Amino acid sequence: MVFAAPVMTDQTFEYSRQDASGASCVAQAWARLPQPLSPQEREALKARAAHLLQSRNAVLVAHYYVDGDLQDLALETGGCVADSLEMARFGREHAAQTLVVAGVRFMGESAKILSPHKQVLMPDLQATCSLDLGCPADDFARFCDAHPDRQVVVYANTSAAVKARADWMVTSSCALAIVRHLKAQGQKILWAPDRHLGRYIQEETGADMLLWDGACIVHDEFKGEELAALKAQHPQAMVLVHPESPRSVVALADVVGSTSQMLQAVVQGQAQTYIVATDNLIMHRMRQLAPGKTLIEAPTAGNAASCKSCAHCPWMAMNDLQRLVDCLEQGSGEVLLDAALGLQAKVCIGRMLDFVQAHPEALAPKVQGFVRGIGAA
Ligand code: 13P
Ligand code: SF4
Repeated sequence: MVFAAPVMTDQTFEYSRQDASGASCVAQAWARLPQPLSPQEREALKARAAHLLQSRNAVLVAHYYVDGDLQDLALETGGCVADSLEMARFGREHAAQTLVVAGVRFMGESAKILSPHKQVLMPDLQATCSLDLGCPADDFARFCDAHPDRQVVVYANTSAAVKARADWMVTSSCALAIVRHLKAQGQKILWAPDRHLGRYIQEETGADMLLWDGACIVHDEFKGEELAALKAQHPQAMVLVHPESPRSVVALADVVGSTSQMLQAVVQGQAQTYIVATDNLIMHRMRQLAPGKTLIEAPTAGNAASCKSCAHCPWMAMNDLQRLVDCLEQGSGEVLLDAALGLQAKVCIGRMLDFVQAHPEALAPKVQGFVRGIGAA
């Protein structure tokens, strides 16, 4: 069966960033979004992609925020659906010589940095992240130069060039433990780029942290006041919050953690209802793993919803079945990195992976106060 190529629409988004002088400013970025496909089109593309993965001896490594069909396909074909830390580890350890990373650019780059000898493909290399965009390597280098007494700790959501300048990379699942470890060594920290995650870690650990001023355009939209009202309507619900969210939202959380940690909280929690403050595509996997539970999206900017406030990352949405088939058929979307830059960037990722391996308890989600149905935290 032959289907017409799906129509795409370009949308623009505003994101905040810090300039070289340290001042905050607003910039614009775009994402090319697919139109929905019919069930027949989806099935045909899924079957084609499964065949191509097998014939190319490739493995699909997907994030929880990508389209449900891609998540299912990854699991059905021996790949994985995971958070950014597990994606990096899975890609490094898997025997396949071609990794297809369904996520955003920094995830493909991390896979290539960790496995430079493998071919790393992405459905769309233009799938970026407002945190990555908001922390250009040149400005960041000047910021680091101005504070040579600090350990440079960067979030995974950054370019290879920014990672090459860092001492440590962290993801949301291990950031708290690593900063605690550095604080215990008496280190002062320069943190980039997410201001909300940085402030959260600073408050939790009491570490001396100088923060870059970036934000995730998706999580930045969650609203504390509206969440408090929703919580009042569902007093038995557990509130799960990704730490890229603003402080007023994190303050209402029962569990603060990475996407995997939030998923784990739904699967293991004894509550019936969960209010979820992260990209709503995570619900696809939550519903599969905890079918009887009630999941409610945390409120964003309100019902006037521009796509910016629809709790779905526009760049994750660029991972669609058609682009997946195209990259497998044509070998397009290959992540290419300067080898020397990759080697430099690998140092801070390697430090994190070694730390996590030596301290598996570092991956426990942060549970605040009393968790209903589980007990005192
Ligand atoms: P996780 O590491 O929790 O998967 O987060 C990645 C991300 O981009 C969240 O917005
Ligand atoms: Fe970046 Fe936010 Fe999208 Fe995650 S959800 S990839 S942090 S823009």
